[in-house]
Amino acid sequence: MKRSIILSTIFAIILFSCKKDEDAIEDVVTSGPTPYNLVIPPNMPPMNIPANNPMTVEGVALGKKLFYDPILSGDNTQSCASCHSANFSFASILQFSIGIDGMPTRRNSMPIVNLGWQPGFLWDGGASDLESQVIGPITNPVEMHETLENVLVELKEHSEYPALFKAAFGEDEITIPKLMKAVAQFERTMISANSKYDRYAAGQESLTPLEIQGLEVFTDMTKGDCNHCHVLGSTFSDFAYRNTGLDSIPFDDGRYAITLLESDRGKFKTPSLRNVELTAPYMHDGRFSTLLECVEHYNTGFRYATNLDPNIAGLPKGRMTQQEMEAVVAFLLTLTDTEFVNNPAFRP
Ligand code: HEC
Ligand code: HEC
Repeated sequence: MKRSIILSTIFAIILFSCKKDEDAIEDVVTSGPTPYNLVIPPNMPPMNIPANNPMTVEGVALGKKLFYDPILSGDNTQSCASCHSANFSFASILQFSIGIDGMPTRRNSMPIVNLGWQPGFLWDGGASDLESQVIGPITNPVEMHETLENVLVELKEHSEYPALFKAAFGEDEITIPKLMKAVAQFERTMISANSKYDRYAAGQESLTPLEIQGLEVFTDMTKGDCNHCHVLGSTFSDFAYRNTGLDSIPFDDGRYAITLLESDRGKFKTPSLRNVELTAPYMHDGRFSTLLECVEHYNTGFRYATNLDPNIAGLPKGRMTQQEMEAVVAFLLTLTDTEFVNNPAFRP
């Protein structure tokens, strides 16, 4: 009897001390950055988040602050949001955006939406991960025209950033890789998956007869054949690089500039069509101002360039009627997600 009391006392002491150790470990864990619970909507595939950049609440908040802060530009007048505005699904209404020295960008600004699912970035895929894309616009002389040395000096001298970087990464030093990671974390949270089409696909809302017809033309391989590249359902693109016959001799080398393969000349990334209603003007050079012009391009406008995608080349011109093209446009408008563009988590 006595022995069992002693034993259970010893046991209790061991238990108690273990409990204390656990508390101590928990304290260390909870004083570091808080893991960010990224909720992937059921209609989207799993997202690959790089193991060296786990998402944290503090990292996302820092990334958002940096995204909206003109401190990243040479004369502190322009932020990422200057060319990536929430109202336009984080694209720009200008054909070519204007950088801090008044010079136009070479290509049309791209929307920032569902980037966490993309295998390559920029129209030509010149950036292979979201993190490395971040420094491009900062140092580009046509865009924010700033040096990384100067960005670091300004961030280190700032009244808030030293504490925010420490909260996000648990270390005192501000570095460029941490800046890249934080902005990429914020961008990965920018998920759009609640358009009218999504609610229709989930059986929660119906489409009008015109929108249904547009959906049918979109997927019909003898009509729109849009689905071939702008894959229906989740990301609305397979993100492959293609020449869509905008010019018989491309003005912009596109993917060729990255791979130096002749077969890539004039190829550009297939963009997602989510929120496309908001991202005019269209194409890598912003040449079309309406969605109808885009559909007309595939129906009659495309040119027989050397690298023209065989799926476009193989379909006869004029195969869609005017009414069918208008139906496709009506369908494209169902991909607008107002919850996404109005989400205060993404707005300044
Ligand atoms: C002066 C306007 C301008 C500014 C400022 C700017 N961008 Fe961009 N952004 C563009 C243009 C133009 C493109 C397309 C460039 C290309 O393909 O060559 C682009 C493309 C992108 C893309 C690629 C999206 C995709 O689908 O591949 C991302 C991501 C991006 N920008 C993020 C940022 C971030 C982050 C900042 C701030 C650090 C920023 N941009 C600042 C104009 C701008
Ligand atoms: C062979 C693949 C392919 C097919 C088929 C295709 N697209 Fe595209 N689409 C692309 C590529 C690539 C681009 C970017 C082209 C560029 O800028 O050079 C693009 C661009 C667009 C854009 C402009 C988006 C933006 O953000 O600027 C719209 C709109 C569009 N396509 C709609 C459609 C519709 C509607 C159909 C069917 C009628 C269709 N596409 C068929 C590959 C395709």
